[in-house]
Order: sequence, then structure tokens, then C-alpha cells
Amino acid sequence: MKIILGMIGLGSAIAAGHAAAQASAADRIPDTMEARVQACTGCHGPQGRGVENVYFPRLAGKPAGYLYNQLVAFRDGRRKYVPMNYLLAYLPDAYLMRMAEYFAALNPPPLVQPAVKRSPEQVREGQRIVTQGIPAKKIPACITCHGAELGGREPGIPGLLGLRADYVSAQLGAWRFGVRTALAPDCMQFIASSLSEPEVAAVATYLASLPVTAARPLRQPGMRLPLACGSQPQKGGRP
Ligand code: HEC
Ligand code: HEC
Repeated sequence: MKIILGMIGLGSAIAAGHAAAQASAADRIPDTMEARVQACTGCHGPQGRGVENVYFPRLAGKPAGYLYNQLVAFRDGRRKYVPMNYLLAYLPDAYLMRMAEYFAALNPPPLVQPAVKRSPEQVREGQRIVTQGIPAKKIPACITCHGAELGGREPGIPGLLGLRADYVSAQLGAWRFGVRTALAPDCMQFIASSLSEPEVAAVATYLASLPVTAARPLRQPGMRLPLACGSQPQKGGRP
């Protein structure tokens, strides 16, 4: 709570600056990366490794381009979570990129997850969707974009290992209800809103059942995706 209030304080202090905000936000940034990210690790865990709260995602090791896109989306209000929207308000792109690169380069061990009982039918249904998609609804297999080992794809597609079931359901729900949007064309918006509730539950259950391996984001510049995604430019280059 203290952290949240502190952050809202920082957000409104920056907002109050108005005219000079762009320049003064940059001035106020402390000059070591460890100091800069202290505001982040209270919620995202030391080195961005994640915390017990399932809704607070791990940052470490995700593709820098993906993390950067999320920071821009929070700053610009395309992805909504009030404490982060405030914290990032007015921060310049270059600074967001440096924070993204910082967390992308870290690789602390994954959190140990408590054992969970899962329905074998849900796990099987989730595996089918993740590996084969749902052709009747034109939903491509998740692995075509997120990688055969689900380690993600440079520059903009995150891995799907180590995400907890409630987080995955919440993010797919956020896309469906417009609380989370990515750069157009927003391929995940189409996918999330084409999945039924039981399909979302199956996918979330299956993903959470997978061991966290050392799979890293793939680098296959120019590879054609089954749907166009604004956050994954097809012709290579930084987003
Ligand atoms: C008050 C807690 C809190 C603080 C402080 C915080 N975050 Fe977050 N962050 C969250 C939550 C919760 C989410 C997930 C929001 C959602 O459901 O979309 C999130 C999401 C993210 C994401 C998207 C991750 C993904 O996998 O999609 C990034 C990147 C991120 N935060 C970076 C940061 C950085 C960098 C800082 C420090 C400048 C920071 N956060 C500070 C709580 C926090
Ligand atoms: C056409 C390519 C594509 C396909 C197919 C695809 N995704 Fe994605 N996915 C993306 C992109 C791009 C992002 C990052 C969007 C952004 O910038 O916010 C993403 C992000 C996500 C996230 C957010 C992860 C996080 O850490 O917050 C989840 C969850 C996700 N996808 C689940 C799925 C599931 C489940 C499927 C299969 C049913 C799937 N995706 C199929 C391209 C794809």
C-alpha cells in the first residue's frame, strides 16, 4: 500500500509539472539503474523475478521490445493499471527503452510455484488449442507466434511459460474488454475475443501446468505470422 501511495504521489507530482513536465521528469530520474527501478521491484520482485501475487507479472528475461511496448502502452493509457499509468506518465521513450533493456537482460531463477490440482480434461483441451489453434474460429496455434517452446519471439512477442492461470485469464479478459490494447492490428485482441470462457480457462490451466524451461525468445526476423500484429513488425527493426 505504501508503495502504491508513494507511486501515485510521484505520478501526480510529475503531472503537476505540466508545461515543464517532459524536461523535469527526465531531470528527476536518479542516475543509477538500480535506483531507477526501485519503484518497480517492490511490485515485480527483486530483479523483476515476479512475486507471490499472481497478478504482478515477472519482467526478467522478456524480450526488450515487448517490455518497451508495454511501458509505452501504460504511459499512453492503451493498457490500463492505474498505479503504472501514473508512474510512467510523461516519461520519455528513451528512458522506457532503457528500463525495458535492463529487465530483459536479467535472468533470476523462476519463482517456485505451489502444487495445484488441475483437471486433466482442461489441460488436454488447453494443449490442443495452444499447439493446434481452433481452425473453425480462425484462431492460429499459439505456438506459431509464441514459439514452439513458448519462449517468445523477438522483438515483441513474450514467452508464455511461468505465467499463472489467473494472470493469463485476466490478460485475455482485459483484451476482450478493451482494458489492454496493443499496437494495431491488435492480433491478441482478435484471439482473446474469439475464445470462449471455457477455452480461456483451458488455455490458462494448460500454460500454468508447464515447467519453466530455459527457452529464450526466438530470433527469426521477417518470419511471416499467421495474423498481422502491430507489435511484431514483419520487416524487422525495432518497434
Ligand atoms: C503498484 C505495483 C506496481 C509497480 C510499482 C510497478 N508495476 Fe509494473 N505492473 C504491475 C501490475 C499489477 C501489472 C499487470 C497489469 C495488468 O494487469 O495489465 C504490471 C505490468 C507491467 C509490465 C507488463 C508486463 C507483461 O508481461 O506484460 C511491465 C513491463 C511493467 N509492469 C514494468 C514496470 C516498471 C518498469 C516499473 C517501475 C517503473 C513498474 N512496472 C512498477 C504492478 C506494478
Ligand atoms: C499472430 C501471433 C500471435 C498468436 C497466434 C498468439 N499470440 Fe499471444 N501475443 C502476440 C503478441 C504480438 C503479443 C504481445 C502484444 C502486446 O504488445 O501487448 C502477445 C501477448 C500474449 C499474452 C500476454 C503475455 C503477458 O505476459 O502479459 C498472452 C497471455 C498471450 N499472448 C496468449 C496467447 C494465447 C493463449 C494464444 C493462443 C490461443 C496466443 N497468444 C496466440 C501474438 C500472438
